[in-house]
Parts: sequence; C-alpha cells; structure tokens
Amino acid sequence: MSDNIQTVTVLSKTTWTPNLFSFTVSRPDSFKFTAGQFVRLGVNPSQLKYYQQIEAGDETADSALNEDVFRAYSIVSSPFDEVIEFFSIVIPDGAFTSQLQHLQVGDELLLNTMPFGFLTLARYQKPLPKDLWLLATGTGLAPFLSMLQDLKTWEDYEHIVLAYSARSLDELAYVEKIESLQEDFGALVDNPAKLIFIPIVTREPVEGALSERLPKLLLEGTLEKQAGIALDIDTTHVMLCGNPDMVEDTKEALKTLGLVMNRRGEGNIAVENYW
Ligand SMILES: Cc1cc2nc3c(=O)[nH]c(=O)nc-3n(C[C@H](O)[C@H](O)[C@H](O)COP(=O)(O)OP(=O)(O)OC[C@H]3O[C@@H](n4cnc5c(N)ncnc54)[C@H](O)[C@@H]3O)c2cc1C
Ligand SMILES: NC(=O)c1ccc[n+]([C@@H]2O[C@H](COP(=O)([O-])OP(=O)(O)OC[C@H]3O[C@@H](n4cnc5c(N)ncnc54)[C@H](OP(=O)(O)O)[C@@H]3O)[C@@H](O)[C@H]2O)c1
Repeated sequence: MSDNIQTVTVLSKTTWTPNLFSFTVSRPDSFKFTAGQFVRLGVNPSQLKYYQQIEAGDETADSALNEDVFRAYSIVSSPFDEVIEFFSIVIPDGAFTSQLQHLQVGDELLLNTMPFGFLTLARYQKPLPKDLWLLATGTGLAPFLSMLQDLKTWEDYEHIVLAYSARSLDELAYVEKIESLQEDFGALVDNPAKLIFIPIVTREPVEGALSERLPKLLLEGTLEKQAGIALDIDTTHVMLCGNPDMVEDTKEALKTLGLVMNRRGEGNIAVENYW
C-alpha cells in the first residue's frame, strides 16, 4: 500500500435521495488540503461485502481481499473541520459507488491523503476582482461548499454568486446548509447579502428556483438579472464544476459574453469535470 494511503472511519451518513448521499470520515492528523481540492477514496469490494455478511450473521463470510477501487472525490468540509465530508452520487452499476452506497457508520474506507486539483481560489493572481461566481451541477457543488466555509473567500470578494442546478427539488441537496452559511458568514463579514444563492431545478417546476440550464440562463441574461450584478471581464471570477457537458456548454456561453479562461493566474474562468 502507498505511504499516502490511510484507513479512515465513517462517522456519519446523510441520505438525500436513493441516488445521493453525504458522509463524514475521521480526519488523519497530518492531512491538509485547500478548499476546492479533491482526494482519492478507496473501497475494497470484497471487504465491504465481508462486513455486510458478518453484520447479517453469515458464518461463511470470506475476508479474502480483492483489488481496491479508488475514485476522485471533492471535499465538502472546510480545511479547518475536524472531520472530512463528501457528497456522492450512486451509479447503480458503477464499480465504486455501487459499493460505497452500502457504507454504514463505523465502516472503514481508504483515503489517499495527497490532495489534488487546481479548482482553488489560490489559482487567481492578486489583485482579485470584485465578484466570484460559482456554478455547479449535481455533486459538483462539493468544492464550492468547502470554499464557502473558508472566511477568506468571504473577505476577498464583494459578491459571491452560487448557482446550483439539479434535476429535481429532492436532488437539490444542502439548501439549509447554504442558507446557514449565508447567515453565519454574512454576519462575520457584516454583509448578510454577500452570498447570492440561485437554485436551479430543471425537470420539475419549483417555486423560487430557475428552471433552464445554466448556458441558456447566462446567454439570456437571466442569471445576471437574478444575481443583480453583471459578469464582466475585469470584475469577475467564475468557477464551473460537475457534468462535463455543462462545463463545456457553460464555458462557451461565458466566452460569448466576453470572459476568458484562466491561465497562469490570469483570466476569469476555472473548471473541473467530474467524468
Ligand atoms: C476531480 C473529480 C472530483 C470528483 N468529485 C466527486 C464528488 O465529490 N462526488 C461524486 O459523487 N463524484 C465525484 N467525482 C466522480 C467520481 O470520481 C466517480 O466517477 C463516481 O464516484 C462514480 O464512480 P463509479 O465507479 O461508481 O462510476 P464511474 O464508472 O466512475 O462512472 C460511471 C458514469 O457515472 C456518471 N457519473 C460519475 N460521477 C458522477 C457524479 N458525481 N454525478 C453524476 N454522474 C456521475 C458518468 O456518466 C460516468 O461516466 C469526481 C471526479 C473527479 C474527476
Ligand atoms: N439523478 C439521478 O437520479 C440519477 C440516477 C441514477 C443515475 N444517474 C446518472 O448520473 C448521471 C448524472 O446525474 P445527475 O442528475 O447527478 O447529474 P446531471 O445529469 O448532470 O444533472 C444535474 C443538473 O445538470 C444539468 N445539466 C446536464 N447537462 C447540462 C448541460 N450540458 N448544460 C447545463 N446543465 C446541464 C441538468 O439539467 P437537465 O435536467 O436539463 O439535464 C441538471 O439540472 C446521469 O448521466 C445518470 O446516468 C442519475
């Protein structure tokens, strides 16, 4: 096993829908990361099956080990939390999540403690512009929740817009958490209106949520209108995370609006694809 791989214990689990859940694991003392980064989590299929068999009282349970399966996971929790939180999809025939979905409190997972990824605010050169736009689909919300639990994010920008798109209302997870961040961090920076949350639900009508896909909302000006601020090459940073089709289409829409990709610290748009 690589030196970076440690065993962590599941401490809590929240089920949002049959295909979406969150969980926390113990945080190794030496593990450090920057808000927005991801790690590799590992399961051992036969080991999990073994635990389930033992729990079910199956005396024929076989603890023989198969190959570990690792996948990239963005960290939801803040770099200052005592535990590490993740937000996961369930792909019924996916090699990783078909196993991960059976996790219970007390189960063990493998964590590669080397953090990866450049979807962090540190990638932008100073001086920072005024506004930060965070655009997510599905579990792509995860890195933005971590950034929003870091006071520096709130101090560095005048406005923060979080637009988060899910298929249905029940898949729009973490809404209460986002509202409590608005309140708590808004109070810390003396500006309760700093975080502008724009929920988007695309496959059913929901009061208070927009219903079109992000690129259309951008090109029609609806998102700017809803946020009450303009996207501007000089005053805006934009981060995209989640579905690669959304990332591609939204990137093109933003370019049409005059924004440019961030390279070597300069430019507006930074992205992360989940598959
Ligand atoms: C940088 C990075 C960070 C990631 N962070 C997260 C995260 O925080 N939470 C998370 O659930 N996944 C995340 N993923 C995806 C994750 O690594 C796995 O793909 C996912 O756990 C499914 O694994 P699997 O083996 O079950 O299916 P896979 O064989 O990996 O995927 C099968 C198919 O499922 C779909 N799919 C995969 N992941 C997702 C997803 N998150 N949402 C919707 N559809 C998906 C795609 O169509 C994909 O082709 C991340 C991926 C990358 C590259
Ligand atoms: N969600 C589930 O219940 C579920 C269950 C089992 C498996 N899966 C698998 O997981 C994958 C993703 O599921 P998901 O619901 O988490 O993510 P998703 O399909 O990426 O949907 C999340 C949000 O992203 C939007 N979106 C998709 N493509 C876009 C684009 N090109 N531009 C802008 N917005 C876009 C969706 O809008 P639209 O509604 O308009 O597409 C939706 O609002 C699916 O391919 C499916 O195979 C999902």
